Amino acid sequence: MTDQAVSAPKLETDVSQLRCIACGAVRESDATNVRCAQCGDLLEVVYPGWKTSAGMRAAGLDASALKELWRQRRTSYNALDESGVWRFREVLPALSDWNHVITLREGNTPVYELPGCGRAAGVQQLYAKHQGMNPTGSFKDTGMTSAASFAREGGFRWVACASTGNTSASMAAYAARAGMRSLVLIPQGQITWGKLSQALDYGAVTCQLKTDFDGCMRVLDEVVQRMPVYLLNSVNPYRLEGQKTAAVELLERFDWQAPDHVIVPGGNLGNSSALGKAFLEMKDLALISTLPKLSVIQAEGANALVRTIRETGGKKLISVHAETMATAIRIGTPASWKKAVRVLEATGGAVEQVSEVEIALAKAEIGADGIGCEPASAVTLAGLKKLVKRGFVKKNESVVLILTGNLLKDPDFTLKFHRGDLFAGTPQEEEAESVLTPRQRAPMVLDASANTVVKVLEHAERVEPRE
Ligand code: F0G
Repeated sequence: MTDQAVSAPKLETDVSQLRCIACGAVRESDATNVRCAQCGDLLEVVYPGWKTSAGMRAAGLDASALKELWRQRRTSYNALDESGVWRFREVLPALSDWNHVITLREGNTPVYELPGCGRAAGVQQLYAKHQGMNPTGSFKDTGMTSAASFAREGGFRWVACASTGNTSASMAAYAARAGMRSLVLIPQGQITWGKLSQALDYGAVTCQLKTDFDGCMRVLDEVVQRMPVYLLNSVNPYRLEGQKTAAVELLERFDWQAPDHVIVPGGNLGNSSALGKAFLEMKDLALISTLPKLSVIQAEGANALVRTIRETGGKKLISVHAETMATAIRIGTPASWKKAVRVLEATGGAVEQVSEVEIALAKAEIGADGIGCEPASAVTLAGLKKLVKRGFVKKNESVVLILTGNLLKDPDFTLKFHRGDLFAGTPQEEEAESVLTPRQRAPMVLDASANTVVKVLEHAERVEPRE
């Protein structure tokens, strides 16, 4: 552990295993290979030790004992307990030495009510769980603390990822905390300055490749075959175990009564898979009695999962050439599509796609509720509106949007939006003008005079009075 030693005991009951999602081959957890040695498909972490004669139990504890233990840890200054991920370590794979944990005190993110957005979508109980309030500004930190700790335990000197920006920022930070080197592959010109600058500051070796995210992923797959480098993309099953804890935190916040709906943006589909896995496990462990419906929203221009569900019933992946201003989810061949399909089926969730103008409007509405997020996160609200119109989400049902990234990740998008430049010269220019103008707040350049400013104030009060 980088900051302070902890004396968490090794858990005795919960030896986790890695199981292939396709052929079912099983092996003991280890930190070296993220794919099935037999068939090459993705692995997932399973916990055979949870099955006991008294029912499903993590670390031998029943549901009420787990709830009490996790609640008590909130007052502790032990580094593992302060982390919103490791606080739930009974439902995570155990390290052989807890001092290998790398933590920036991730997780413990807030849940906010969204009254204005609720009115816009037509639902009475709307909340946001803001994963953009993590240490590097995105949900990736919850998975990174877990997978990077396994990299350290495995003795790796180098970790690597392909990224649309947030994974690379997070990986670079966690690697730096542990004295590991990090290699970042990003699509040239397709990630935001905020995210790129983070990777640089945290000391990553950063390569901007002349391709898209999917191309970066292909190159990296080859690099990790040839070099002793540990892959930290969300195909890494330990990433998803850490990301599960956002769902556990959410359930704890709602006093273990699951909301009716949880809505997640879909890119490479690791996050939706992780959250769904958590909901199913919490039900197995009797921490909740009903499951929320987990729905996944994609940008129209990066809609591989939506097409896969609608055109093949989830049987065969339809890859797309991805194009969206929500650069975080500009992904055409999502690696975790099979896991996401399974979660959709198990929880009864839906898929939906949203246009660029719908994303921009939703982002401004989330901002106007005083919360803010990056464009990829705003697909959740845009998608919710469509799910309400379709009748899939009912007016009186409770809904939680998972906001994945901080507003400050992509200030360029926000500035262009408010200046009215976002869709200039695009086919959506006219539509954007009629739909978005009322939400735009361009900065004004004025003479330095109190009179001028007072006039602006009076005008604002006339055109937009607030109660
Ligand atoms: N929202 C944000 C802000 C993201 O950065 C990402 C993915 C997603 C949503 C989609 O999550 O891939 O688990 O379905 N960003 C990755 C990256 C791909 O490299 O930062 P997903």
